[in-house]
Amino acid sequence: MRNNKYIVGNWKMNKTAVEARQFIVGLAPKIKQSESHILLAVPFTALQSSVEAAKGTSLRIGAQNVSEHSPGPYTGEVSAGMVRDTGATFTLIGHSERRHLFHESSVAINEKLKCAWAAGLQPLLCVGETLTEKQANKTEETIARQLTEALAGITKEQVASLLIAYEPVWAIGTGLVATVDQATEVHRFCRHEMAKLYGKEHAAQQPILYGGSVNGTNAAGLLHHKEIDGVLVGNASLTVDSFSSIVNYQNLQLQKIASAH
Ligand code: PGA
Repeated sequence: MRNNKYIVGNWKMNKTAVEARQFIVGLAPKIKQSESHILLAVPFTALQSSVEAAKGTSLRIGAQNVSEHSPGPYTGEVSAGMVRDTGATFTLIGHSERRHLFHESSVAINEKLKCAWAAGLQPLLCVGETLTEKQANKTEETIARQLTEALAGITKEQVASLLIAYEPVWAIGTGLVATVDQATEVHRFCRHEMAKLYGKEHAAQQPILYGGSVNGTNAAGLLHHKEIDGVLVGNASLTVDSFSSIVNYQNLQLQKIASAH
């Protein structure tokens, strides 16, 4: 499960349905050689056109959020089943922008995970500490709490398909990428926590991605580390050139080596 890297784009509130289709048509020939899992989390309104455009490619399409409720009187919400119905196969859950800007509670995040699994969507759970928590040496405490609360009542069978992204809030959209050492230290801690919750065997198989200011320049350094199973990319996923350069990070590394000689 941890052999191939995950390269996940998060478009946030960007791109119309037509722009999404154009992006995917442009991206498809550039990712043909990649052995990585390539995923794009797109706005709800672009799910259908993205799924259609991605047919016949290895690209997987998903949402950035789902409702914590089953269908019913919840004006403005979109259920996990509705997302799955578009042909999407995964969803982000608990992104820091959802937690901080939209006050998503850990109880809601736990419910969203359950709804995602019930609908057949693979969840990508985001965790990460704020700058204040980091400065107060509370990174591990924060991550442990976020994982334990999000996964309350989640079975071993469900968690087998979970993806986790460690996204330090201070690194998101700031240009301040975590160093490989900083990221791997927290990844090891996440694995340790997952071992406590689900046993060592599960923890060893758990894909843990890094997110926060990843771009074409720093992606290769992160992705070459065996503890980093992939990257979640915001800003640099918005153009075909920057996203495909991250997908093809191995070529970037080879080009650098070639130009150094
Ligand atoms: P960024 O966003 O790459 O623009 O920092 C990452 C994310 O929010 O997932």
